[in-house]
Amino acid sequence: MGRPQGPVESLVIMRGELTQTFGGAFHGQRVLVTGHTGFKGAWLAEWLLALGADVHGLALPPPTTPALFGQLNLAARLADRHHLGDIRDLATVSGVVADVQPAFIFHLAAQPLVRRSYREPLETYATNVTGTAHVLEAARLATDRQRPCVIVSVTTDKCYENQEWHHAYRETDPMGGHDPYSSSKGAAELIISAYRRSYFSAPDSPARLASARAGNVIGGGDWAAERIVPDCIRALADGQPIIVRNKNSTRPWQHVLEPLSGYLWLAASLSAGNAAQLATAFNFGPAPESNRSVGELAREILKHWPGEWRDQSDPAAPHEAGLLNLATDKARHLLRWQPVWNFPVAVEQTITWYRAADHAGDLTRRQISAYTADAQAQGVTWALSTG
Ligand SMILES: NC(=O)c1ccc[n+]([C@@H]2O[C@H](COP(=O)([O-])OP(=O)(O)OC[C@H]3O[C@@H](n4cnc5c(N)ncnc54)[C@H](O)[C@@H]3O)[C@@H](O)[C@H]2O)c1
Repeated sequence: MGRPQGPVESLVIMRGELTQTFGGAFHGQRVLVTGHTGFKGAWLAEWLLALGADVHGLALPPPTTPALFGQLNLAARLADRHHLGDIRDLATVSGVVADVQPAFIFHLAAQPLVRRSYREPLETYATNVTGTAHVLEAARLATDRQRPCVIVSVTTDKCYENQEWHHAYRETDPMGGHDPYSSSKGAAELIISAYRRSYFSAPDSPARLASARAGNVIGGGDWAAERIVPDCIRALADGQPIIVRNKNSTRPWQHVLEPLSGYLWLAASLSAGNAAQLATAFNFGPAPESNRSVGELAREILKHWPGEWRDQSDPAAPHEAGLLNLATDKARHLLRWQPVWNFPVAVEQTITWYRAADHAGDLTRRQISAYTADAQAQGVTWALSTG
């Protein structure tokens, strides 16, 4: 399996090939990413730039210090295509969507932290529920036959009513959510479904709308508070033991490039046709072997950055889901999408990134190239597909 340690020249060769992946769907296309100042949004913006897209972003300022957005120098690189604005304000969202007239919208802007949602439930609902409605409404108002648009709205595996069982959740399982964050994403899914059925379901609809549900992602450039990998990195960098709150909780860990490849391929496939099957909800999760406990994740991290971890379960901590698995048969069958990096590779790539974070831009671009090369080697459709 390829690694991001090849010479820089190989990246230059790859960049030409990269624009042809995903069927060449994004080359020269105007793409709006909401939440581009965040962790996943910055990776997505970088990947779309490599695909030759005309990338625009709408978000609040970066939510962390440091931030991947800054490390990739995206403010300067996007220049006047970097829009600062609040999706809780309809006029702001409508103005940006009307100005940009995107062929694709990837909606990632959100308050994404469970623990913060307990402290700030109303802000979480306003951003994740009303904000999502604003993005869809802006798209509804701005699209017509001359200006079609494909929208992929990102929610989470936590949108499901979690029964704490080993069954893997399917796209048809009921929405729910114990905490404000999870329920806000379940509510966003209901709104996405209602917009699709009310406005975007005609065979000749100029807008095509899908939602994407992924599990916990890991990868370089996540600096969020109260997330396990950034917490580990901060502890290791300070020479402190990693403190693990819920060592037995299992999560479907995957590298950030895995769901992003799913979002991109879902959008590319929707723009190519077959909206009836594809303008729906999709899970993007890892292979079952990547459903690992938080304790296993800590041990895997320590293979690449030596240190210690300590179990410090807090019985008074707010409720967080213990068991959560995603079924990905639908994405595998309808999109021919599949995960590329297994759990050890995803962890290795993540820790490699943090250990060389001074070269974040090069490293991020090399990891996108390496991931694409590995996907090609495994015969994954989006990576083989040429425009
Ligand atoms: N990181 C994960 O493990 C994970 C897992 C499943 C789903 N998700 C989802 O993926 C998306 C991106 O998550 P992330 O980890 O990159 O989060 P992040 O906190 O790093 O980024 C969030 C982005 O949303 C923007 N934002 C927040 N409130 C806003 C507002 N009111 N108006 C405009 N922009 C606003 C921020 O400025 C930032 O750009 C979210 O929808 C999240 O729910 C993340």
